[in-house]
Amino acid sequence: MSVSQQYRLSGRRASEIVASVEAAIRAGRLPPGATLPPVRALAEDLGVSPNTVAAAYRSLRERGLVSGARRRGTTVTEAPALPARTAPPLPAGVRNLADGAPDPRLLPPLGQALRRVPARPRLYDEPPVLESLAALAGAELRADGVPTDELTVIGGAMDGVERLLGAYLRPGDRVAVEDPGYPNLLDLVAAAGLRAEPVPLDAAGMRPDGLERAIGRGAAAVVLTPRAQNPTGAAVTRARAAELRRVLTAAPEVLGIEDDHAGAIAGQPHHPCVVGQPRWAVVRSTSKVFGPDLRLATLTGDGQTVARVAGRHRLGAGWVSHLLQELVAGLIEQDAAHEWRAVAARAYAERRAEMAAALRDIGITTHSTSGLNLWVPVADEAGTVARLLESGWAVAAGQRHRLESAPGIRVTIATLEPGEAQRFTADLARCLATGRPHYTG
Ligand SMILES: Cc1ncc(COP(=O)(O)O)c(C=O)c1O
Repeated sequence: MSVSQQYRLSGRRASEIVASVEAAIRAGRLPPGATLPPVRALAEDLGVSPNTVAAAYRSLRERGLVSGARRRGTTVTEAPALPARTAPPLPAGVRNLADGAPDPRLLPPLGQALRRVPARPRLYDEPPVLESLAALAGAELRADGVPTDELTVIGGAMDGVERLLGAYLRPGDRVAVEDPGYPNLLDLVAAAGLRAEPVPLDAAGMRPDGLERAIGRGAAAVVLTPRAQNPTGAAVTRARAAELRRVLTAAPEVLGIEDDHAGAIAGQPHHPCVVGQPRWAVVRSTSKVFGPDLRLATLTGDGQTVARVAGRHRLGAGWVSHLLQELVAGLIEQDAAHEWRAVAARAYAERRAEMAAALRDIGITTHSTSGLNLWVPVADEAGTVARLLESGWAVAAGQRHRLESAPGIRVTIATLEPGEAQRFTADLARCLATGRPHYTG
């Protein structure tokens, strides 16, 4: 069978070949990691010039659907920007410590805030940002040392990051990212045709020497999480923020982006790192504090950066629904009396501490001080995940989080019940003892 028949690839023009590869990816004939036919072989098969196939592969690469140089082979990326297949449900009885999501029981009740949302119709001519939301969210940002002279509202932390990268970077540009980091960010960077420059981190967040190296390799932007780092639970300390600011001051051309996706439930203060950079932005999301379905984010930054994002937003989606903005403003207002966010932050801190202590008891040190996840270094990620699953626990394999960093597993503590950490670590100890290469941390 010819290579084109094998995957049902066809086309005489580059755009047609792109469409057929895309269809093969969507249909699962070319799954993540699959190698595409070599350029010359496919060209011969389709009766077109190798340049045509090379142009098709380049276009697929720029959209993050495939990666790799021609010599080493072109492969389908782990998470191409196409509709995701829903993950198969966990086997019955398996405890889910894998999803990274907040505990629904720690989200505020919506009833009262929903009843207070004004029911009047709104048309196209409303100001895109609700004044009361800007005032409430702005005051909280200023209390953390983030200026809010320029502020807009977008659809969430990742929406903000995507808009910011799109406002300045072009395919081929490099972005410094935490390693290990958030898989969706790595996928987004690939989908935009950008290249990720990994920066190692420790308990205090991104390492300044690593950021300096990434900038030295040409990073035009940096995306960092000030707290609740995913997957390690690191939080940037005051001292580390000052060090990172020093590195950035020496590179004024670099766009600095802070992804404060967990906000007030992170359990650590927000020490801003990018403020003062000529081009900077802080994005603070409601996803973890009020729930992912109430996702929006305030985006602050320098005048040019916020204007670019707000201006482009206006042309497409236009604005974030005023109903949602009203609801979020109402919840922030009510939080002054109910302290839902502080209660949730304390609960998550207790669950983190319980898991960290149980891990210490089996000889594993973790560095999580913030957020919903802990990172456990293990030599054999896939084996450990599989053995844990057999023991009734789902955790996330580190592979999707990593670029150059060492293997590990991510354990979400968001919904941890009292006593559960001990049961989990007893099983983990057994899995590590029966596994192949041993725990490395
Ligand atoms: C580091 C990081 N950024 C962003 C997000 C998602 O934020 P949003 O829902 O506001 O896009 C997450 C979600 O887990 C995350 O871990």
